[in-house]
Amino acid sequence: MTRLFPMLIGILSLADIRVAVAQVDYPVPIIFDTDFVMPPSDDSMALMLALQSPEIEILGITTVAGNDSLERATSDVLRMLEIANQAGIAVYQGADMPLVHEKSDYAVRKYGNWYSNEAPPIPPGGFATKKAEDETAVSFIVRTVMSRPQQVTLVAIGPLTNIAQAIRAEPGFAKNVKQLVIMGGAVALLPDGAGNMTPNAEFNFWVDPEAAYVTLRSGIPIELSPLNVSRKSALTKAWYEKIVAVETPLTQLLRETLGHQFESEPDRAWLMYDQIAMASVIDPTLVTSERLYVDVDIDHGINYGVSVAGREIWPGAEGAQQINVQYELDWPRFIEMFVERVQKPVH
Ligand code: RIB
Ligand code: CA
Repeated sequence: MTRLFPMLIGILSLADIRVAVAQVDYPVPIIFDTDFVMPPSDDSMALMLALQSPEIEILGITTVAGNDSLERATSDVLRMLEIANQAGIAVYQGADMPLVHEKSDYAVRKYGNWYSNEAPPIPPGGFATKKAEDETAVSFIVRTVMSRPQQVTLVAIGPLTNIAQAIRAEPGFAKNVKQLVIMGGAVALLPDGAGNMTPNAEFNFWVDPEAAYVTLRSGIPIELSPLNVSRKSALTKAWYEKIVAVETPLTQLLRETLGHQFESEPDRAWLMYDQIAMASVIDPTLVTSERLYVDVDIDHGINYGVSVAGREIWPGAEGAQQINVQYELDWPRFIEMFVERVQKPVH
């Protein structure tokens, strides 16, 4: 059943005052593309938000190597779906390595285990009974988008390997995607635009820069949720305690996996990367965006994987595409919604 919510989205900047009227048809059919690992990962909390939101219809989940290996992503997400009593949602395995980027000493030293071929650890409560589908992630993404032209939103919160492969696999794919919401990149042009993997590169784009390059230049309408907007969030112990004050299978999972983190580091504040990208699909008025040309450096030099954004095309960025870049967050409304959704009873 489709409900129509007209939304007024005001986008204000000093130089430019624009007001856009966007109409969102709910529920939004999405494919959730993720480098999933169990909590305290942001992917897991983004999935909780999606599963618990009536505005979202998850058509399928596709996994990709990123935070950890592809096998770990698949094993953990299958188990999480069982815990959430949503094992009916199909999971499709995607890329186990970036398009080009190879393991390096730097990658091993820094955050992430995308290059790993170790067996996945046992998730909380044991491995899921249900397995991933036989169909590949790319086949599922292409088939679903092509059978529902201009209807499907892709939510990509890991390296963009699966999305780039789908773009390459089917020439008509890009123009049939309704919207692609990406957690990735960091924009130096806007406040809080430093990288988190190298001085200027964000993790998801750095793991697969070539995939990010192909995707950003594909012509798909894109909403980018970069580190700039992630840095407007802070999941503190106080918010954690508010969430776990209500007992459900999801809050119990958070208690088991996040609780000891706050015990050992009570002052820690966790950035909410993927949760914000997901929330912006549920309610686009939670974020403020600016339309910018965004490109990714794929030279294997000091800026490998760095996203660069400008208000006009600059030399070398010919062919780059204008996209929405999130930079501000209505934190009070976002965190209230997050807490309320995660605390809801599971179906
Ligand atoms: O840079 C933040 C991104 O990389 C998020 O998607 C998170 O899951 C991390 O690994
Ligand atoms: Ca992620």
